[in-house]
Amino acid sequence: MKILVVGSGGREHALIKALKKNPKIETIYALPGNGGMAGDAKCIPIGAKEIDEIVDFAVLKNIDFAVVAPDDPLALGAVDALEESGVPAFGPTKAAARIEASKVFAKELMKKYGIPTAQYQVFTDANAAKEYVKTAPLPAVIKADGLALGKGVIIAQTLEEAEQAISDMMESKVFGDSGSRVVIEEFLEGPEVSVLAFTDGKTIKPMVSSMDHKRALDGDQGLNTGGMGTIAPNPYYTKEVAERCMEEIFLPTIRAMQAEGCPFKGCLYFGLMITKNGPKVIEYNCRFGDPETQVVLPLLKSDLFTVMQAVRNETLDSCPVEFMGGAACCVVMASQGYPQHYEKGFPITLAPDTDEITTYVAGAKLGENGELLTNGGRVLGVTATAENLKAAVEKAYAAVQKTHFENAYYRHDIGKRALNKE
Ligand code: AMP
Ligand code: GLY
Repeated sequence: MKILVVGSGGREHALIKALKKNPKIETIYALPGNGGMAGDAKCIPIGAKEIDEIVDFAVLKNIDFAVVAPDDPLALGAVDALEESGVPAFGPTKAAARIEASKVFAKELMKKYGIPTAQYQVFTDANAAKEYVKTAPLPAVIKADGLALGKGVIIAQTLEEAEQAISDMMESKVFGDSGSRVVIEEFLEGPEVSVLAFTDGKTIKPMVSSMDHKRALDGDQGLNTGGMGTIAPNPYYTKEVAERCMEEIFLPTIRAMQAEGCPFKGCLYFGLMITKNGPKVIEYNCRFGDPETQVVLPLLKSDLFTVMQAVRNETLDSCPVEFMGGAACCVVMASQGYPQHYEKGFPITLAPDTDEITTYVAGAKLGENGELLTNGGRVLGVTATAENLKAAVEKAYAAVQKTHFENAYYRHDIGKRALNKE
């Protein structure tokens, strides 16, 4: 079989490595992929947002199954376009992808169907929003409606910061049209848990839980990033919390999407906060998380391709989704300066992959002589599995010590909060 994976980061590398385990798969094409995946997939220089070119390529190559991983092509309707051309595809339709692509859509869905989330107001007018924050409790959470590369959320500690955020999003349009509408919501407190779940629109099967580390610096300081590291499972996601999430959040969400006429098929990501009043939804993503995928898939015992086909064919109820015991830790090695300005083009030395250590390559390319060079902010996700979290964290950091490139930057405390909780 010939498979196509749309996307180019560490998440896509983890998906490709997990798909490759199925002996029926002969060839995997990555569009565009990156130089570090060249041993696992054929990289084709077609961008993830070039929907027409992706479909043309899939038809030309007689692709048997396509996996669309990033938010942008999903929001642009890549899965609809592939399916219309006869290519079976994993991922939500454009209509279902609104659960991530529009925060207003997601918040209204949760309100209408009684799914627990922060209280909120929506604004289309900057002056009305500024008037509102004058009396709103602080900190105030201000979110651009549309996709904003994970940067569209501002937690304003003062009225001035709140007014500035509204002005940046709605008047200066720093996120373009994504800021035409803003959501202003209540600040919630508690540990965060990421849960990725397979769903075919009717059945939902959650994967092992995980914890992201979003801030750039140790001790959760510094700017928000796409994620500097992850661990799985997340010790705050107890059996009791998991049961509540299933009853109060997961099942109501897929039923709500069905009732709205846009059933969600694919991987639905629940960004949860475990507040003292129970679990609440911070955000939905319409896709696998990055770097959550890098710790979740190495623990998947079931065959990923079989599960993805069951999702696409709406037979997930009869398809087991099982995980191994043990734990995983992924330490992201980034270019110094990320998420702001950084240099690239430095040669990379990787720690050797073993049964328990895998380096997922994100921001890298092959140089003229086939050498691997840094080419992005988040460069590598050095990942270890082990019998418990402590051992996984130690192994991941030992592998980081064997990995080298100039100006490498990583956090030293991935997994620390989880280990303290345990
Ligand atoms: P999002 O892009 O919606 O995931 O938001 C980014 C981060 O902002 C989240 O991971 C949370 O840490 C934080 N955040 C978002 N919404 C809230 C909220 N209502 N209360 C507290 N923190 C929030
Ligand atoms: N790691 C957070 C995300 O994928 O959105």
